Amino acid sequence: MLSIWSGLCVIVIVCGCCIEAQNTGPSHGKVVVCYIGTWAVYRPARGSFTVENLEPSLCTHVIYAFAGLNPQEDSIKSLDPWQDLTEHYGKGGYQRITTLKLRYPHLKVSLAIGGWNEGSKNYSQLVAEPPRRSKFVASAVDFIRKYNFDGLDLDWEFPGKRGGAPEDKLNFLLLVKELKSAFRKHNLLLTAAFGAGKDTIDVAYDVEGLGVYLDFIHMMCYDYHGAWDQKTGANAPLRSSDVLNVEYTINYMIKLGAPMHKLVLGVPLYGRTYVLPEALHASSKRKPKLGIVSTSVGFQGPITREPGFMGYNEICLELKNKTEPWMKFWDSESATPFAIRNTQVITYDDDKSIYEKVKFAMEKKLAGIMVWSVDTDDFQGDCANADDDSPQNFPLMRAIDKSIETSLEEIKNSIIKGKFTPRRNSSCRLSTSSNMLVFITALFVLGRYSL
Ligand SMILES: *[C@@H]1O[C@H](CO)[C@@H](O)[C@H](O)[C@H]1NC(C)=O
Ligand SMILES: *[C@@H]1O[C@H](CO)[C@@H](O)[C@H](O)[C@H]1NC(C)=O
Ligand SMILES: *[C@@H]1O[C@H](CO)[C@@H](O)[C@H](O)[C@H]1NC(C)=O
Repeated sequence: MLSIWSGLCVIVIVCGCCIEAQNTGPSHGKVVVCYIGTWAVYRPARGSFTVENLEPSLCTHVIYAFAGLNPQEDSIKSLDPWQDLTEHYGKGGYQRITTLKLRYPHLKVSLAIGGWNEGSKNYSQLVAEPPRRSKFVASAVDFIRKYNFDGLDLDWEFPGKRGGAPEDKLNFLLLVKELKSAFRKHNLLLTAAFGAGKDTIDVAYDVEGLGVYLDFIHMMCYDYHGAWDQKTGANAPLRSSDVLNVEYTINYMIKLGAPMHKLVLGVPLYGRTYVLPEALHASSKRKPKLGIVSTSVGFQGPITREPGFMGYNEICLELKNKTEPWMKFWDSESATPFAIRNTQVITYDDDKSIYEKVKFAMEKKLAGIMVWSVDTDDFQGDCANADDDSPQNFPLMRAIDKSIETSLEEIKNSIIKGKFTPRRNSSCRLSTSSNMLVFITALFVLGRYSL
């Protein structure tokens, strides 16, 4: 009689071998979606991020953001032809990113259309007219194939908002359905980035319908708070007493019918900054909290130079400043860190908060993790300790891969402990058929958690 334990070993060994063969990416089997904000190339000095700075072994999917909409032609257009294309001695970003697939055959590369600066109105008008939608769908297939991308990522921010119309919700679904039908013939991926706020989800998305046609839904679980609130708050709280948190967003999407195996939890590789009206000094005995009054505009970092925003690459350097030190805290409700120096506050994510988020995503059996964006991780390794000989760059991307592995292992162990160990004594008395049943269940469980 085949015992469960030797059976499991055989499965683990056999599957371990097939994963190892030919895999140039993460071995945990979950999706890791890496957005690149390609304008990061214009950042100064060591902050400048090019396609060549990417570490493709840390991602399963890469998304080149953003292309735009040409509303006269109902087609996709490059927003930066010199960076994206090869004509007129351009830098050929599209070609450089898609040729990464030759050295990293596991990698899928998509082009994103949209983003905050593209607004909503032109997309709203496009999807409202069936002939314009058809024209867009046909030209999108040509564009994606011409430049050798594997798929298209829709980043319309947001249907029904910012100049959009109430009909956007239905019309966006129709666009997605038509795109998918055309993409199927060419085996192209169709994904979308969704806003995380309940108000956005309610207005913008027919979640159940979109869940049928999209291959993955990238939940932008960040920007829950910022200087616009005029009080300090976590950029991406895991939990909170209101609806503005990661757990609420994901649970709400599932309740609305989003398939768990298509949901991808977005994690920010940046923080939000605040300026307090008065300096907060270390001398005060009580631990500072989030939620205190701040001015309406945050401070900026030297690399990203955007008020209220700071890349993790800037944050980690700041926090190492010994001459003007920061006070560092952990906010247990949001499960995120924050730092204070005089009138300045930064709320951000680090390896610990990322582990908490990843663990939640794995327990929810989501498809995986997405990041906005790889170009603000410490991709140069400038914050690493010199005496450490493990890889030094991309600390947050590495934290994600490690956290996925750890979480899956923990889940697997708790299942084996909880369900199988107590029955070990009695399993010898089980009949062959019920033994087979346990074996098949184990196969199923392992298949779900380890592959
Ligand atoms: C929308 O399209 C019009 C017409 O082409 C263009 O002038 C405008 O800049 C577009 N809007 C945005 C936000 O890009
Ligand atoms: C530390 O912070 C102070 C104040 O912002 C700044 O003047 C100084 O250059 C920083 N030092 C380093 C090593 O970054
Ligand atoms: C194993 O099963 C036998 C028979 O039912 C029982 O007497 C014994 O206490 C069990 N041992 C353990 C460790 O549970």
